[in-house]
Amino acid sequence: MALFDVYPLYDVEPVKAKGLYVYDKYKKKYLDLYGGHAVISIGHGHPTYKKALRQQLNRIGFYSNAIQNPLQHQLADEIIAQSCCENYQLFLCSTGAEANENALKLASFETGKSRVIAFKNAFHGRTSATVAATDNPNINAPLNAQHQVSFLEFNDLESLEATLKKGDVCAVIFEAIQGVGGLDEPTESFVVEMEKLCEKYGACLIADEVQSGFGRTGTFFAYQKYPIRPHVISMAKGMGNGFPIGGVLVRPDIKARYGMLGTTFGGNHLACRASLAVLEVLKKSQLQPHAKDMGDYFVENAKKIDEVKKIKGRGLMLGLEFDHEVGEIRKKLIYDHHIFTGGSSNKNLLRILPPLTIEKKHFDVFFDALKKCLT
Ligand SMILES: Cc1ncc(COP(=O)(O)O)c(C=O)c1O
Repeated sequence: MALFDVYPLYDVEPVKAKGLYVYDKYKKKYLDLYGGHAVISIGHGHPTYKKALRQQLNRIGFYSNAIQNPLQHQLADEIIAQSCCENYQLFLCSTGAEANENALKLASFETGKSRVIAFKNAFHGRTSATVAATDNPNINAPLNAQHQVSFLEFNDLESLEATLKKGDVCAVIFEAIQGVGGLDEPTESFVVEMEKLCEKYGACLIADEVQSGFGRTGTFFAYQKYPIRPHVISMAKGMGNGFPIGGVLVRPDIKARYGMLGTTFGGNHLACRASLAVLEVLKKSQLQPHAKDMGDYFVENAKKIDEVKKIKGRGLMLGLEFDHEVGEIRKKLIYDHHIFTGGSSNKNLLRILPPLTIEKKHFDVFFDALKKCLT
């Protein structure tokens, strides 16, 4: 039977992975600077992770959300301890889109309103409300057009206030560093004012940390560079190091009621155990400060390459912008030098989203290869 053909694929078939490397069926070794799209946070096949999942599978792998599951409480406590998001409440699901869909739904329940403010070039997922809040007509079906969404530019406070003033906005959703859109960031003063305006006009502020969360940018969440306390924080990718898990942190002033949100798979035993193992490694190996240090090392080296017009991002959510498209460079990197990298909707941007366990020697290999690709 044919697969429903929606993905343009590279001709590589990984069969094994360890640390920073992925191995194909011919035993060829690839350096993974893409982390399966910012998912592999603690490295492929980390021993702590494998042991935790194996042990959990031998006890109980799954049961639905109809029973007591102390692992969910343990996970909530550990996320709060590491993120310092004091008193937030945790709801677990399985993907980034599901986390954002629940975040938007919560905002609508909370405010009784339905318009969403999102930003140009945002990517929030492919479910009903999240894709409507994603600035890409190619992935929006007529069904999704029923949502009321206003797309604004980052840093345009005037339009933000004018839209909020109309009184029908339930949520402002933003990425502190845009992932798929190409690593653009709002200014600190805009973010701080945006929070104030949300409070003034009774809208919820949602920080989409699906890609940037769990230590990737050097702080636990990327928005934490700013002194704000969003109503809802969504997370997913790095949370499970490949095990599908997502979640939302909900500010304590938003009250839960039975049936408000729900899912069959979210927060199951294996998923919680995977995320607890990620958090254990993040803490023990001090991967948050390490991400910052490695990001600084990357930037230092990127500055030496004349062809690089702009260096974007922070920590290990990074991009190199050229004055030409990077498709050919990515192909050369993967087929000639065996290095995985990422693209974005900005065709001139090469994205780097490696496991947080990366070391300087891996970046040295990358820069040598990049220089060869550019000559
Ligand atoms: C910022 C952001 N939000 C949401 C999503 C959607 O996550 P998922 O693909 O797990 O549904 C993505 C995926 O790339 C993302 O980068």
